[in-house]
Amino acid sequence: GRPRDLAGRRVVVSAGGTREAIDPVRYIGNRSSGLQGYALARTAAARGAEVTLVAANVNLPDPAGAKVVRVESTAELREAVLAACGDADVVVMAAAVADFRPETRHDAKIKKTDGEPEAIRLAKNPDILAELGERRRSARADRGVESPGVRPEVIVGFAAETHDVIANGQAKLARKGCDLLVVNQVGEGLAFGTPDNAATVLVAGGEAVEVPFGPKEDLAAAVWDLVAARLS
Ligand code: C5P
Repeated sequence: GRPRDLAGRRVVVSAGGTREAIDPVRYIGNRSSGLQGYALARTAAARGAEVTLVAANVNLPDPAGAKVVRVESTAELREAVLAACGDADVVVMAAAVADFRPETRHDAKIKKTDGEPEAIRLAKNPDILAELGERRRSARADRGVESPGVRPEVIVGFAAETHDVIANGQAKLARKGCDLLVVNQVGEGLAFGTPDNAATVLVAGGEAVEVPFGPKEDLAAAVWDLVAARLS
């Protein structure tokens, strides 16, 4: 791979972490910085891709050459990703998506009371990555076995696994219907908010590629190498 091997390709990258409103001032969120997703967007643009970056609550300058769509909640992220994926060749879901949201969003700020606080009931969020995989699977089924042109051609997911990385990762890859799954090694000082990362990239029906601890750009380059090799 390398220089301009993604020229003419449309890629969608999600980055950051979604927030789910409890009331007008409070939310449930996560610690994703968006650094890995931004590195992916920057690297793809440098290699010639037309990049749409769907950024959820990221506090970083726009990467050069990418169209940035800012979102807050999982519902907004889903809308933006699905809209951008209509004519995309590749989607990389690097965002940390909230699995749950408060069942109801209070219109007014919840008041402190003397008694016990009210419990927050949670509802399940849609799994966007699984939805992308399922949409593609059914589009391919509709069009018959040989179905070039069903998009996105390459779907990439991220996962944080702490144990049985390969076995859990392969199961997740199959369950979500993606082509590549980047499994972050989570643990002391790794991943969140740091400029470095280490990961194993699982390839559907294939090998596992180890990317040693290093700058998030290095992991991004390794992901795009594997993506480029799978694009027709
Ligand atoms: O199931 P898990 O959360 O480990 O999967 C992580 C992957 O799935 C990431 O690529 C993330 O962006 C995506 N995801 C999603 N929608 C969710 C949860 C996760 O697209 N509701």
